[in-house]
Amino acid sequence: MSNYHIKQFEEYFQVYRKSIRNPEQFWEEIAEEHFVWRKKWTNVLSWDFKKPEIKWFEDAKLNITENCLDRHLRAQGDKTAIIFEPNSPDEEAQHISYRQLHEKVCRFANVLKENGIGKGDRVCIYLPMIPELAISVLACARIGAIHSVVFAGFSATALSTRINDSDCNMVITSDGSYRGAKTIDLKGIVDDALEECDCVDTVLVAKRINTDINMKDGRDKWLQPLLDEAYHDCVPEIMDAEDPLFILYTSGSTGKPKGMVHTTAGYMVYTAYTFKNVFQYREQDVYWCTADIGWITGHSYIVYGPLANGATTLMYEGVPSYPDFGRFWQIIEKHKVNQFYTAPTAIRALAKQGVELVEKYDLSSLKVLGSVGEPINEEAWHWYNDNVGKRKSPIIDSWWQTETGGIMITPIPYVTPTKPTYATLPFIGIQPAIMDENGDELKGNQVEGRLCIKYPWPSIARTIWGNHQRYKDTYFSVFENMYFTGDGALRDEVGYYRITGRVDDVIIVSGHNLGTAPIEDAINEHQAVAESAIVGFPHDVKGNALYGYITLKDSGESRNHDNLRKEINQLITDRIGPIAKLDKIQFTVGLPKTRSGKIMRRILRKIACNETDQLGDTSTLLNPEVVEEIISNVV
Ligand code: WTA
Repeated sequence: MSNYHIKQFEEYFQVYRKSIRNPEQFWEEIAEEHFVWRKKWTNVLSWDFKKPEIKWFEDAKLNITENCLDRHLRAQGDKTAIIFEPNSPDEEAQHISYRQLHEKVCRFANVLKENGIGKGDRVCIYLPMIPELAISVLACARIGAIHSVVFAGFSATALSTRINDSDCNMVITSDGSYRGAKTIDLKGIVDDALEECDCVDTVLVAKRINTDINMKDGRDKWLQPLLDEAYHDCVPEIMDAEDPLFILYTSGSTGKPKGMVHTTAGYMVYTAYTFKNVFQYREQDVYWCTADIGWITGHSYIVYGPLANGATTLMYEGVPSYPDFGRFWQIIEKHKVNQFYTAPTAIRALAKQGVELVEKYDLSSLKVLGSVGEPINEEAWHWYNDNVGKRKSPIIDSWWQTETGGIMITPIPYVTPTKPTYATLPFIGIQPAIMDENGDELKGNQVEGRLCIKYPWPSIARTIWGNHQRYKDTYFSVFENMYFTGDGALRDEVGYYRITGRVDDVIIVSGHNLGTAPIEDAINEHQAVAESAIVGFPHDVKGNALYGYITLKDSGESRNHDNLRKEINQLITDRIGPIAKLDKIQFTVGLPKTRSGKIMRRILRKIACNETDQLGDTSTLLNPEVVEEIISNVV
C-alpha cells in the first residue's frame, strides 16, 4: 500500500526516506493506486538536467478530467465540487455538483471542438473568477487543448504579448467583471489586445455583468447559446503522460514573460498528492483557496488538486475588502470553510483593519490555515495564528513556484510542528539543496545560501514555451545538475527551511550579502509599520546602501518621522546587525505591486537609483498611481 495520507510526524520521516531512497518506486505506487489510467507507463522516470529533459510515467495514457470528474460520479456525483461565492454577498452562492460539473465541462468541450479547437491547440482564457473559468480550463483538458489562462487584471498589452507568444487560436472571456464596487470592461480589453494578434479566430464571450458590448462579426460568439445547444457528454481525448496540459506565464527577472509548460500525468499526481496531505483534506471538508485561477496557485489548488481528490473547492469572485474587510471571515462562516489558503499580502491588509471584523464571525470550522506566494513575516504569522486560527489551526507556510507546479517545502498540518516564518521541511519526494556562491552544496544544518532542487519531482515544468534555451539558462545553468529556484534559503539547527527571498533582490552592502526579506521582516515588526520594501542604491564607500520604502498603518501624520526612522533602524540593528541599517527611509502611501500582490522592487530600485527615466512598463501594476507619488517624495 502506498502512503497516500500521512498522519504522523514519524510517518512523514519514514515516507520521506522511502521517497528519496527509491523515487521511482514511490511515485509508481502513488500513481498506480490513486488514479485512473487508460494505459500504464513503460518507465516511471527518465531525466537529464543537462539537456534538460524530464519525463514521468512515459508512454502512459490518461485524461486528467477523467480523474477530476468521471471517476467521482458513481460514488459522489451529488457531492458539491465547486461552491461559487459571487462578488456581492446579495447574490446567491452556487453549488455545482460533480455530476453538474461533468456535464458543463462536456458541453463546453463540445463547443470548443465545434469551433475548430483540437488536441494541442492553444486557447487563451481571460475570465474573472466565475464558474466558466474552472469549466473552460477543464474543457480544454477534456479535448487535449492547451490552456493558457491570463489573469483578468492584466492589461491589453500584457494579454496580447501572451496570446502571441503561444499562438492561441481562441480567446475565452466575458462581457465584463465585478471587482468590489467596480465593474471592469474585460471584452474591451480583449478587443484592444486582439488589434495586435493575428492568430485568434474565435472569441467566446460569457455573460456576467450584462453590459452592451461590441461583438465582432465572424469572430465573437456568445457562449451560453452554444452551450445550450451542445451535446451533454464528451468522450475524453486520450493523452500521453507528457502531453502539455497548460502554459502559464510568469515574469522573469528580465525580458518577456516565460510561458512555463506543464504536462499531464506528473502534474496530476503531484498536485493531487500534495493537496491531500498539505491540507489534510477529509471527505466532507470545504476547502477555500483565495488565489485567482490566473495564477499557478489557482490552477493547482483550486482546480486540479482538489478535484482530483473529489473535494469541495470554493471559488470567490470578489476582493477581500468588499463590501467591507470582513468579507473573507463572513465567507468562512457562511460556508463553514475547513481549510483556508491565502497570501501574506492579504493577511497584512486584513490585519491592518484590526481584529473587530474578525471577531464578528464564527470561524470555528477552520482546521488548517495556509500561506503562499511570499515570505510571511513574523507579525503577520502571529496575527493570522492568534486571530484567525485562534492558536488551534496550524499555519502551513508553503513554498513553491509556478515552475514547480505544486507545493515543495511545507509543514504538514497536525504532523509537522510549525515555526513562524519557516516553511519547515521538504514535502515527500523533494530533495532541496542549499548552495554557496561557488556552486558547492552546503551540507548539514545552520547553513544559508541559494535554494536548488537536486532531483526531479513529477510536476516540474518541462520547458518554456518556444524557448527551451531560456529554460535551460534560467533554471539549469547556474548550478551543475540542479534545478535553481532563484530563491535564497537557510536551514536551521533542526533542518527546517526558511525562504529568505529572491536572490535577485539580494543586496551586497560593504561586501555583506543582505536579503531584503529579513530586513523587511524586522521593519514590519514595528507596530506603526504596515509594509515595507528595501532596495539597494549605489554608495561611495559601501558599494551599495539600503533604501527603505515604508508604509505606515495610519498615514503617520501624528508621528515624528525622524523618531520613527531611528526606531526602525534600531529594530534592524537588533534583529540583523548595524550593517543592515537603512541609509534612507521614505514613508509612502503605498508600494507598487503586481496584480498578484508582489511588491515591484525593480521599480523602487530604479527610483532609489535616480533612474526614473528607465522605469519600464508600469501599466500592469495593481496601483500605478503610487509610483508618481513615490517619485515626487524621494528622500
Ligand atoms: C515566493 C507562487 C517565501 C518565492 C506559488 C518563489 C515564497 C516565488 C513562498 C514564486 C513562501 C512563494 N515563502 N517565499 N511560502 N511561496 N514564494 O511563481 O520567491 O507566483 O520563488 O508561485 O514566490 O512565485 P509564483
